[in-house]
Amino acid sequence: MKKIIIAIDGFSSCGKSTMAKDLAKEIGYIYIDSGAMYRAVTLYCIEHQLFDEKGQVKEEELKARMNDIHISFRLNPETQRPMTYLNGMNVEDRIRTMEVSSHVSPVAALGFVREALVRLQQEMGKEKGIVMDGRDIGTAVFPQAELKIFVTASPEIRAQRRYDELKAKGQEASFDDILYNVKERDRIDQTREISPLRQAEDAILLDNSHLTIQEQKEWLKTQFLKATHA
Ligand code: DC
Repeated sequence: MKKIIIAIDGFSSCGKSTMAKDLAKEIGYIYIDSGAMYRAVTLYCIEHQLFDEKGQVKEEELKARMNDIHISFRLNPETQRPMTYLNGMNVEDRIRTMEVSSHVSPVAALGFVREALVRLQQEMGKEKGIVMDGRDIGTAVFPQAELKIFVTASPEIRAQRRYDELKAKGQEASFDDILYNVKERDRIDQTREISPLRQAEDAILLDNSHLTIQEQKEWLKTQFLKATHA
């Protein structure tokens, strides 16, 4: 069967990475979480004091250090889940903290950061056989991807899923705060000057508001089979 590139883009907290990861595992493709790369650069900035007291990125300093930032992925041998590495260190947990989440937007808006990460993402996909998720994969990273999916769900449903997740982990959470955060991230992602979040013309829209994970998984597998037999 021919190997293809699968680009999965969409809004935050709509389950993109779960579906992308599951599909990659099932079909033996490599899974790349492009958001993890923006998060890793953000973690580097936090650890090297590259944010000023107003939370703005010290752009010139970061630009000068871009060549010192090396991001890669390795599979956890026990779980077979991909782990993010920054300069040889496993940072998978550290890039998922609230601190990183709340600093990542301005980093992801910088042109020189996007250029460097897009180049790396394109390099990772050059052999095909890859599932990559993010915001601009079908529009900027792999405009030639054979299968493009654009995932969405209503803000209320995404907020409810995040609320349930946090509660399940025993963390305190306010539904209204989460809903505000979801809507705010949508706004920032869609109005960013460089590579804003938008559906590619040839992407298939998936609104998973009322789908179970299993239903979504089957839907995606069907799209993959159609794309590879076309
Ligand atoms: O998907 P995520 O929440 O882990 O993404 C983290 C941040 O990176 C989010 O603010 C959007 C941004 N991002 C991006 O601009 N382009 C991508 N391809 C992936 C993520």
